[in-house]
Amino acid sequence: MKPYYEDSAVTLYHGDFRDHMDTLTAAKADAIVTDPPYGETSLDWDVWPIGWLADAAAIADNLWCFGSFRMFHERAAEFATWKLAQDTVWEKHNGSGFHNDRFKRVHEFAVQWYRGEWGGLYNDPPKTADAMRKTVRRKERPTHMGEIAGTNYESTDGGDRIMRSVIKLRSMHGKAINETEKPVQLVSQYITCSVPIGGLVVDLFAGSASTGVAARQLGRKALLFEKRESQCEAAARRLERETSQPFDLGAIA
Ligand SMILES: C[S@@+](CC[C@H](N)C(=O)[O-])C[C@H]1O[C@@H](n2cnc3c(N)ncnc32)[C@H](O)[C@@H]1O
Repeated sequence: MKPYYEDSAVTLYHGDFRDHMDTLTAAKADAIVTDPPYGETSLDWDVWPIGWLADAAAIADNLWCFGSFRMFHERAAEFATWKLAQDTVWEKHNGSGFHNDRFKRVHEFAVQWYRGEWGGLYNDPPKTADAMRKTVRRKERPTHMGEIAGTNYESTDGGDRIMRSVIKLRSMHGKAINETEKPVQLVSQYITCSVPIGGLVVDLFAGSASTGVAARQLGRKALLFEKRESQCEAAARRLERETSQPFDLGAIA
Protein backbone atom coordinates (compact mmCIF):
# COMPACT_ATOMS: atom_id res chain seq x y z
CA MET A 1 0.00 0.00 0.00
CA LYS A 2 1.26 3.47 -0.88
CA PRO A 3 2.21 5.73 2.04
CA TYR A 4 0.15 8.87 2.57
CA TYR A 5 3.36 10.82 3.16
CA GLU A 6 7.00 9.89 2.80
CA ASP A 7 10.37 11.60 3.08
CA SER A 8 13.85 10.28 3.79
CA ALA A 9 13.07 9.80 7.50
CA VAL A 10 9.30 9.60 7.97
CA THR A 11 6.71 7.31 6.41
CA LEU A 12 3.04 7.85 7.28
CA TYR A 13 0.31 5.39 6.35
CA HIS A 14 -3.36 6.22 6.42
CA GLY A 15 -5.52 3.57 8.07
CA ASP A 16 -5.85 1.24 10.99
CA PHE A 17 -2.33 0.05 11.84
CA ARG A 18 -3.70 -3.50 12.11
CA ASP A 19 -4.19 -3.54 8.35
CA HIS A 20 -0.43 -2.99 7.96
CA MET A 21 0.96 -5.74 10.20
CA ASP A 22 3.12 -7.23 7.42
CA THR A 23 4.87 -3.89 6.92
CA LEU A 24 5.18 -3.41 10.67
CA THR A 25 6.67 -6.79 11.49
CA ALA A 26 9.08 -6.63 8.56
CA ALA A 27 10.32 -3.19 9.65
CA LYS A 28 12.25 -4.41 12.75
CA ALA A 29 11.59 -1.32 14.83
CA ASP A 30 13.84 -0.42 17.75
CA ALA A 31 10.90 0.88 19.76
CA ILE A 32 7.27 1.90 19.64
CA VAL A 33 6.53 5.35 21.05
CA THR A 34 2.79 5.83 20.96
CA ASP A 35 -0.22 7.54 22.41
CA PRO A 36 -3.29 5.33 22.07
CA PRO A 37 -6.89 6.44 22.43
CA TYR A 38 -7.31 6.30 26.23
CA GLY A 39 -11.05 5.73 25.84
CA GLU A 40 -11.86 8.54 28.28
CA THR A 41 -13.50 11.24 26.18
CA SER A 42 -16.51 11.52 23.89
CA LEU A 43 -14.33 12.06 20.80
CA ASP A 44 -15.47 9.59 18.14
CA TRP A 45 -11.95 8.17 17.62
CA ASP A 46 -11.27 7.80 21.35
CA VAL A 47 -11.99 4.09 21.53
CA TRP A 48 -9.43 1.72 23.06
CA PRO A 49 -8.33 -0.67 20.28
CA ILE A 50 -8.76 -3.97 22.12
CA GLY A 51 -5.81 -6.28 21.61
CA TRP A 52 -3.38 -3.69 20.26
CA LEU A 53 -0.74 -4.59 22.85
CA ALA A 54 -0.49 -8.10 21.46
CA ASP A 55 0.07 -6.62 17.99
CA ALA A 56 2.66 -4.25 19.44
CA ALA A 57 4.54 -7.24 20.88
CA ALA A 58 5.00 -8.59 17.35
CA ILE A 59 6.52 -5.28 16.24
CA ALA A 60 9.09 -4.37 18.93
CA ASP A 61 10.31 -5.35 22.40
CA ASN A 62 10.43 -1.79 23.66
CA LEU A 63 7.31 0.34 24.11
CA TRP A 64 6.73 3.84 25.43
CA CYS A 65 3.01 4.33 25.92
CA PHE A 66 1.25 7.53 26.95
CA GLY A 67 -1.79 7.17 29.15
CA SER A 68 -3.60 8.02 32.35
CA PHE A 69 -3.35 5.97 35.53
CA ARG A 70 -6.99 4.99 35.02
CA MET A 71 -6.18 3.71 31.54
CA PHE A 72 -3.19 1.61 32.65
CA HIS A 73 -5.16 0.29 35.60
CA GLU A 74 -8.22 -0.68 33.58
CA ARG A 75 -6.10 -2.27 30.84
CA ALA A 76 -3.66 -4.05 33.16
CA ALA A 77 -4.55 -7.49 31.79
CA GLU A 78 -3.62 -6.40 28.27
CA PHE A 79 -0.24 -5.12 29.46
CA ALA A 80 0.44 -8.41 31.27
CA THR A 81 2.69 -9.80 28.53
CA TRP A 82 4.90 -6.71 28.85
CA LYS A 83 7.30 -5.96 31.71
CA LEU A 84 7.20 -2.56 33.35
CA ALA A 85 10.47 -0.64 33.04
CA GLN A 86 9.60 2.82 34.36
CA ASP A 87 6.97 5.51 34.49
CA THR A 88 7.42 9.19 33.78
CA VAL A 89 5.08 12.11 34.21
CA TRP A 90 4.40 14.94 31.84
CA GLU A 91 3.32 17.99 33.86
CA LYS A 92 1.39 20.41 31.68
CA HIS A 93 0.66 24.07 32.28
CA ASN A 94 -3.07 23.44 32.00
CA GLY A 95 -5.28 20.46 32.52
CA SER A 96 -8.47 18.70 31.76
CA GLY A 97 -10.95 18.29 34.58
CA PHE A 98 -13.27 15.36 34.12
CA HIS A 99 -14.82 15.99 37.55
CA ASN A 100 -15.43 19.27 39.34
CA ASP A 101 -15.11 17.62 42.76
CA ARG A 102 -11.61 16.13 42.29
CA PHE A 103 -8.14 17.45 41.62
CA LYS A 104 -7.70 19.11 38.27
CA ARG A 105 -5.50 16.73 36.32
CA VAL A 106 -2.49 18.51 34.86
CA HIS A 107 -0.37 15.49 34.08
CA GLU A 108 -0.18 12.40 31.94
CA PHE A 109 2.01 9.36 32.18
CA ALA A 110 4.42 7.96 29.65
CA VAL A 111 5.27 4.42 30.72
CA GLN A 112 8.01 2.23 29.32
CA TRP A 113 7.30 -1.47 28.84
CA TYR A 114 9.58 -4.15 27.44
CA ARG A 115 9.81 -7.80 26.52
CA GLY A 116 12.74 -10.17 26.82
CA GLU A 117 15.87 -9.01 28.64
CA TRP A 118 16.31 -5.37 29.62
CA GLY A 119 20.01 -5.69 28.82
CA GLY A 120 19.17 -6.68 25.26
CA LEU A 121 17.45 -3.40 24.51
CA TYR A 122 19.01 -0.22 23.25
CA ASN A 123 19.01 2.18 26.21
CA ASP A 124 20.71 5.54 26.35
CA PRO A 125 19.91 6.78 29.88
CA PRO A 126 18.25 10.20 29.69
CA LYS A 127 20.66 12.92 30.75
CA THR A 128 20.18 16.60 31.23
CA ALA A 129 22.50 19.48 31.88
CA ASP A 130 19.89 21.23 34.01
CA ALA A 131 18.77 18.66 36.57
CA MET A 132 18.29 20.48 39.85
CA ARG A 133 21.49 19.96 41.80
CA LYS A 134 19.99 20.14 45.27
CA THR A 135 17.53 17.43 44.41
CA VAL A 136 19.80 15.14 42.47
CA ARG A 137 23.02 15.29 44.46
CA ARG A 138 23.22 13.65 47.84
CA LYS A 139 26.18 13.11 50.12
CA GLU A 140 24.93 9.63 50.87
CA ARG A 141 22.56 7.49 48.94
CA PRO A 142 19.43 6.63 50.93
CA THR A 143 19.80 3.10 52.27
CA HIS A 144 16.47 1.90 50.92
CA MET A 145 17.69 2.42 47.36
CA GLY A 146 20.56 -0.06 47.34
CA GLU A 147 23.02 0.13 44.47
CA ILE A 148 22.17 2.09 41.38
CA ALA A 149 24.49 0.52 38.86
CA GLY A 150 25.90 2.39 35.95
CA THR A 151 24.29 5.78 36.51
CA ASN A 152 25.82 9.11 37.34
CA TYR A 153 23.03 9.82 39.81
CA GLU A 154 25.55 11.28 42.23
CA SER A 155 27.89 12.78 39.70
CA THR A 156 29.95 15.61 41.09
CA ASP A 157 31.84 16.28 37.90
CA GLY A 158 29.56 19.11 36.78
CA GLY A 159 28.50 17.04 33.79
CA ASP A 160 25.09 15.92 32.66
CA ARG A 161 22.88 14.19 35.19
CA ILE A 162 20.17 11.61 34.95
CA MET A 163 16.92 13.36 34.13
CA ARG A 164 14.10 13.63 36.60
CA SER A 165 11.04 11.57 35.83
CA VAL A 166 8.68 14.55 35.90
CA ILE A 167 8.96 16.54 32.71
CA LYS A 168 7.39 19.99 32.78
CA LEU A 169 6.37 21.26 29.38
CA ARG A 170 3.59 23.46 28.09
CA SER A 171 0.80 21.58 26.40
CA MET A 172 0.02 22.25 22.75
CA HIS A 173 -3.22 24.02 23.71
CA GLY A 174 -4.07 26.67 21.11
CA LYS A 175 -1.69 25.42 18.43
CA ALA A 176 -2.43 21.71 18.26
CA ILE A 177 -3.65 19.94 15.15
CA ASN A 178 -4.56 16.83 17.15
CA GLU A 179 -7.00 17.05 20.06
CA THR A 180 -4.46 15.41 22.39
CA GLU A 181 -1.23 16.40 20.72
CA LYS A 182 2.05 15.72 22.51
CA PRO A 183 4.88 18.27 22.28
CA VAL A 184 7.76 17.23 20.03
CA GLN A 185 10.22 17.99 22.81
CA LEU A 186 8.45 15.54 25.11
CA VAL A 187 8.29 12.70 22.60
CA SER A 188 11.95 13.36 21.82
CA GLN A 189 13.00 12.31 25.32
CA TYR A 190 11.61 8.82 24.84
CA ILE A 191 12.94 8.40 21.31
CA THR A 192 16.42 9.51 22.36
CA CYS A 193 16.76 6.93 25.10
CA SER A 194 15.22 3.98 23.24
CA VAL A 195 16.13 4.38 19.57
CA PRO A 196 19.72 4.67 18.33
CA ILE A 197 20.69 7.28 15.76
CA GLY A 198 19.59 5.94 12.39
CA GLY A 199 17.19 3.51 14.11
CA LEU A 200 13.45 3.17 13.63
CA VAL A 201 10.60 4.26 15.87
CA VAL A 202 7.01 3.21 15.22
CA ASP A 203 3.91 5.18 16.24
CA LEU A 204 0.69 3.19 15.80
CA PHE A 205 -1.57 6.15 16.69
CA ALA A 206 0.24 9.02 15.03
CA GLY A 207 -2.26 11.88 15.22
CA SER A 208 -0.40 15.05 14.28
CA ALA A 209 2.87 13.15 13.64
CA SER A 210 4.75 14.59 16.64
CA THR A 211 6.70 11.32 16.78
CA GLY A 212 7.71 11.72 13.13
CA VAL A 213 8.79 15.33 13.55
CA ALA A 214 10.82 14.40 16.65
CA ALA A 215 12.42 11.34 15.06
CA ARG A 216 13.51 13.27 12.00
CA GLN A 217 15.01 16.09 14.07
CA LEU A 218 16.92 13.48 16.11
CA GLY A 219 18.35 11.62 13.12
CA ARG A 220 16.06 8.62 13.55
CA LYS A 221 13.49 7.16 11.17
CA ALA A 222 9.76 6.91 11.90
CA LEU A 223 6.97 4.68 10.65
CA LEU A 224 3.57 6.18 11.47
CA PHE A 225 -0.06 5.08 11.20
CA GLU A 226 -3.17 7.21 11.51
CA LYS A 227 -6.73 6.08 10.98
CA ARG A 228 -8.37 9.45 10.25
CA GLU A 229 -7.70 10.89 6.83
CA SER A 230 -8.21 14.47 8.07
CA GLN A 231 -5.38 13.88 10.59
CA CYS A 232 -3.14 12.37 7.93
CA GLU A 233 -3.71 15.45 5.79
CA ALA A 234 -2.86 17.82 8.65
CA ALA A 235 0.12 15.68 9.71
CA ALA A 236 1.51 15.59 6.16
CA ARG A 237 1.22 19.38 5.90
CA ARG A 238 3.03 19.67 9.22
CA LEU A 239 5.80 17.30 8.16
CA GLU A 240 6.32 19.35 5.01
CA ARG A 241 6.25 22.63 6.93
CA GLU A 242 8.46 21.70 9.86
CA THR A 243 11.34 20.17 7.94
CA SER A 244 13.95 22.50 9.35
CA GLN A 245 12.33 24.02 12.40
CA PRO A 246 14.26 23.78 15.68
CA PHE A 247 12.60 22.61 18.88
CA ASP A 248 9.88 24.76 20.35
CA LEU A 249 11.41 25.16 23.79
CA GLY A 250 8.10 25.84 25.49
CA ALA A 251 9.12 24.60 28.92
CA ILE A 252 7.05 25.74 31.88
CA ALA A 253 8.92 28.47 33.70
C1 LIG B 1 -4.20 10.15 21.30
S1 LIG B 1 -4.20 10.49 19.60
C2 LIG B 1 -2.48 10.63 19.20
C3 LIG B 1 -1.97 12.03 19.29
C4 LIG B 1 -0.53 12.14 18.90
N1 LIG B 1 0.33 11.56 19.91
C5 LIG B 1 -0.10 13.57 18.65
O1 LIG B 1 0.81 14.05 19.33
O2 LIG B 1 -0.69 14.21 17.79
C6 LIG B 1 -4.62 8.94 18.95
C7 LIG B 1 -4.78 8.93 17.44
O3 LIG B 1 -4.90 7.55 17.03
C8 LIG B 1 -5.79 7.48 15.93
N2 LIG B 1 -6.27 6.07 15.91
C9 LIG B 1 -7.20 5.49 16.70
N3 LIG B 1 -7.27 4.18 16.46
C10 LIG B 1 -6.36 3.90 15.50
C11 LIG B 1 -5.93 2.71 14.84
N4 LIG B 1 -6.50 1.53 15.11
N5 LIG B 1 -4.93 2.79 13.91
C12 LIG B 1 -4.37 3.97 13.61
N6 LIG B 1 -4.73 5.16 14.20
C13 LIG B 1 -5.70 5.11 15.14
C14 LIG B 1 -6.84 8.52 16.22
O4 LIG B 1 -7.47 8.96 15.05
C15 LIG B 1 -6.02 9.63 16.92
O5 LIG B 1 -5.66 10.65 16.01
